[in-house]
Amino acid sequence: MNRKTITLALTGASGMPYGMHLLECLLQSGQHVHLVYSQAAQIVAKQEMGLALPARPQDAKKMLCERIGPFNGELHVHGRDDWYAPMASGSNPGDAMVVCPCTMGTLGKIAGGISDDLICRAADVMLKEKRPLILVPRETPFSAIHLENMLKLSHAGAVILPPNPGFYNHPQSVQDIVEFVVARILDHLGVAQELAQRWGESRTSSD
Ligand SMILES: Cc1cc2nc3c(=O)[nH]c(=O)nc-3n(C[C@H](O)[C@H](O)[C@H](O)COP(=O)(O)O)c2cc1C
Repeated sequence: MNRKTITLALTGASGMPYGMHLLECLLQSGQHVHLVYSQAAQIVAKQEMGLALPARPQDAKKMLCERIGPFNGELHVHGRDDWYAPMASGSNPGDAMVVCPCTMGTLGKIAGGISDDLICRAADVMLKEKRPLILVPRETPFSAIHLENMLKLSHAGAVILPPNPGFYNHPQSVQDIVEFVVARILDHLGVAQELAQRWGESRTSSD
């Protein structure tokens, strides 16, 4: 199996269930994940999921491993100022990075090349090294500033993948909607997934 090394950054936008489910799927499918999250992400995780993300990386790793259960992958959790983390350098960027959910603030900093924390530095590294950077921006409506930043990042090579669910598969639950979005992210990462039915394919051979 071809394991990928993926940086996952959680920032303080609404949509933490997308980020947490993505983390589970990556680890359960055997990927190596370098996780980093902002202070605002800790607040949103508590608000949206009742999840207390510890400030100390080693505590976070323990808590997340217990929460997710057995998995084949590897989890590394880094502090926001851990400049010794592999993805802080172009010499060790890994295969891809996802910021999910991505705030307008972090998106603006990445668009402006402001690398003042590990999240923005790692994203900057992905862009300069021409590696896949997937941003899952969440806000509504978008201002002209948000839109210009997203266009700038798209031109710089990032994939702008807003968490907009499709309804053509008739989602029955919030989990279905979360899985739809996470499936699209996994597709862009090149990680095999069977979370959501693909258009033009049926789940059962008898259909
Ligand atoms: C419950 C909650 C929901 C939020 N939702 C969003 C959002 O959807 N998009 C956004 O850009 N900011 C949102 N914010 C505001 C950001 O968290 C705030 O701008 C923060 O400074 C972003 O920091 P970060 O980019 O380092 O995570 C939300 C804040 C809270 C507490």
